[in-house]
Amino acid sequence: MRILVTGGAGFIGSNFVHRTLARRPETRITVLDKMTYAANPDNLAGLGGFDVELVEGDICDTALVDRLVRETDLVVHFAAESHNDKSLRDPMSFVRSNVEGTVALLDAAVAHDVRLHHISTDEVFGDLALDDPAKFTPETPYAPSSPYSASKAASDHFVRAYVRSKGLRATISNCSNNYGPRQHPEKFIPRQIINLLHGQAPRVYGTGENVRDWIHVDDHNDAVWAVIERGEIGATYLIGADGERSNLQVVGDLNEIFGRGRGDFVHVTDRPGHDRRYAIDAASIRSLGWEPRHADFAAGLRATVDWYREHPRWWERAREAAEEIYRASEREL
Ligand code: NAD
Ligand code: DAU
Repeated sequence: MRILVTGGAGFIGSNFVHRTLARRPETRITVLDKMTYAANPDNLAGLGGFDVELVEGDICDTALVDRLVRETDLVVHFAAESHNDKSLRDPMSFVRSNVEGTVALLDAAVAHDVRLHHISTDEVFGDLALDDPAKFTPETPYAPSSPYSASKAASDHFVRAYVRSKGLRATISNCSNNYGPRQHPEKFIPRQIINLLHGQAPRVYGTGENVRDWIHVDDHNDAVWAVIERGEIGATYLIGADGERSNLQVVGDLNEIFGRGRGDFVHVTDRPGHDRRYAIDAASIRSLGWEPRHADFAAGLRATVDWYREHPRWWERAREAAEEIYRASEREL
């Protein structure tokens, strides 16, 4: 099987490439990635002996996309601008990559009748109150809060419209917050791990009561394979591992791993429009026979800390750039 993996040099996409080749070594993979600040060429290191090629290019480049889609059996579409904070500063880059780029891929997939799986996020549903017993289901109405989640919501709508009106063979999955190796240092868990590796206190937005539903990146990617193999064309699957935790709990767990007091952190400026809580009802993905293997969050977090401790060269430069941006807007409360 030939697969085109867009965004395969980023966090989840590169983990997808590694896991796919480890489990299905005969797969031929082409990665199409613009190599933005969020990509890391080292993410695709160590794959000698496998049939994998990196094409540096933009999913908005329709001629390139048409050629690559024509040559493949399946598109797994991860490429996106992915950071909420950045979307508040530079929304147009999210419209371009997440909406225009997705439509370019859909046009090519229709033209060449190629199956496509669209990777999306639980953020399209907006947020839940902290005391709401509800979780997101595939029927939850869309109500995105940030330019990032609005752009992902728009891309989901385009996929559904193309399935209905243009005969596109596609599936969608909306996943909750991923953690694991190779996540960019601008994101919450890597940022705090790297702070702690420098002996610095974690930095918590606002009160820190916000809840995220954490899932290990390998569990996400196994669920993506379940959809590719057993999903119904046109259907949407919600992926989550019952991993709800407040940011305060996560920071407390990280502090403990580093032998510090759980409450040893600083509160900093809150994110405007900060979503309170995400929670996934995973019945749709579990109906395909998938279940998470990394049920022990504490163990997953320790392994992630070890990965960052062992790979300083991977994150040093990206961390410096990310912290420079944070310094410009973030104040201690
Ligand atoms: P990431 O920022 O680490 O990686 C995104 C990759 O896409 C980067 O390598 C970047 O260079 C590439 N890219 C961006 N714009 C591009 C363009 N125009 N053309 C080609 N390549 C481009 O993001 P991630 O966390 O790995 O997220 C991957 C996907 O998963 C995204 O679609 C995101 O919305 C979705 N998602 C992420 C999470 C999460 O917790 N990180 C959860 C659910 C869904
Ligand atoms: O839910 C899925 C989404 O999860 C994905 O679609 C996004 O691509 C991904 O980035 C993530 O979005 P979040 O906004 O939840 O992730 P982030 O890592 O930016 O922040 C997680 C939580 O931690 C959030 O409540 C904000 C908070 N935070 C973040 C940073 C960077 C802090 O308290 N301190 C920080 O320094």
